[in-house]
Amino acid sequence: SVLEMEVEQINKGRYEHYMQKEIHEQPESLTTTMRGRLIQGGSCKATTVLLGGLKDHMKTIRRSRRIVFVGCGTSYNAALAARPILEELSGVPVTMEIASDLLDRQGPIYREDTAVFVSQSGETADTLLALEYALENGALCVGITNTVGSAIARKTHCGVHINAGAEIGVASTKAYTSQIVVMAMLALAVGGDTISNQARREAIVDGLYDLPSKVREVLKLDNEMKDLAKQLIAEQSLLVFGRGYNYATALEGALKVKEVSLMHSEGMLAGEMKHGPLALVDENLPIIVIATHDACFSKQQSVIQQLHARRGRLIVVCSKGDAASVCSGGSCRVIEVPQVEDCLQPVVNIVPLQLLAYHLTVLRGHNVDQPRNLAKSVTTQ
Ligand code: G6P
Repeated sequence: SVLEMEVEQINKGRYEHYMQKEIHEQPESLTTTMRGRLIQGGSCKATTVLLGGLKDHMKTIRRSRRIVFVGCGTSYNAALAARPILEELSGVPVTMEIASDLLDRQGPIYREDTAVFVSQSGETADTLLALEYALENGALCVGITNTVGSAIARKTHCGVHINAGAEIGVASTKAYTSQIVVMAMLALAVGGDTISNQARREAIVDGLYDLPSKVREVLKLDNEMKDLAKQLIAEQSLLVFGRGYNYATALEGALKVKEVSLMHSEGMLAGEMKHGPLALVDENLPIIVIATHDACFSKQQSVIQQLHARRGRLIVVCSKGDAASVCSGGSCRVIEVPQVEDCLQPVVNIVPLQLLAYHLTVLRGHNVDQPRNLAKSVTTQ
């Protein structure tokens, strides 16, 4: 029954912590997020994306002058991960707003804008206030939330439910990956069918179907990440470099580490390395570089070489089979992950970092599910 399913979800089952359970249930939560939304078209192979809550507004979204993503914390990072594919498929400029910053600036929002509010809880005060502000300014407001009946779900004009299931751990994990998948489906839906993007669309749809099994595969890194956590247990600080689709992975990986393990950690855009962060590099500071195979790969390889030249202590996340080539110029620890369609790679790449944050926290003896000073849902400004 539905009730039994809900009780089952709320129990930790065989896991010690909710965060651990929620990391490991991502193959299932991703499946639930996609269920009923990828519709295989009769005789021809083409798949249509059905986002029921948006279908009456799709034309308006396509015609908008700009799409603005608004969120806080992990939800903002999920939107950042989806931004490139939404821009690519829709051709509409996509801008990013942290909800509090939009409010602080009273930034311009226009009638011709589509504002997309991303929130796991649907109750975050800043995101909700930014929504009210965007409504006043006449934008079409879309909600992407994990909570049916939440304030953001109710007050937006239309929206998509993430359907990741209840998330109890304060640090968001399965909601993040499901949010990215929802926004990738949004990109497919807004982008529409044209001959020129047909192959790309099919590759993304195939990638979505395969994603739960790829995530199941990457979860097998659990012991390896525990071992890495043991090596890093006493560090003061950890940097994470990413770019392109995986700029978000760098921000989100660092956020996971700092919020639960209480170790200082910063995610950085690798393209900005020479404009400051490079000064921090020495043989002691651990640096994670996300260098999976995509259009930015050769740029990331040169970043790795420059970090080697400064004797940086590197941990490189790369695609399976790239281990030897990615670290040719020096020593580094390599974490190999399965390769998926580039725009979906952030879903796979975040998993080892979630595992790392989890194990670091347990080893350091901190509260995994309820980090000090933090709340699951920040309902005050
Ligand atoms: C809090 C939570 C985070 C979450 C953020 C945004 O800081 O601890 O895990 O990412 O709020 O929450 P929302 O519910 O709007 O996604």
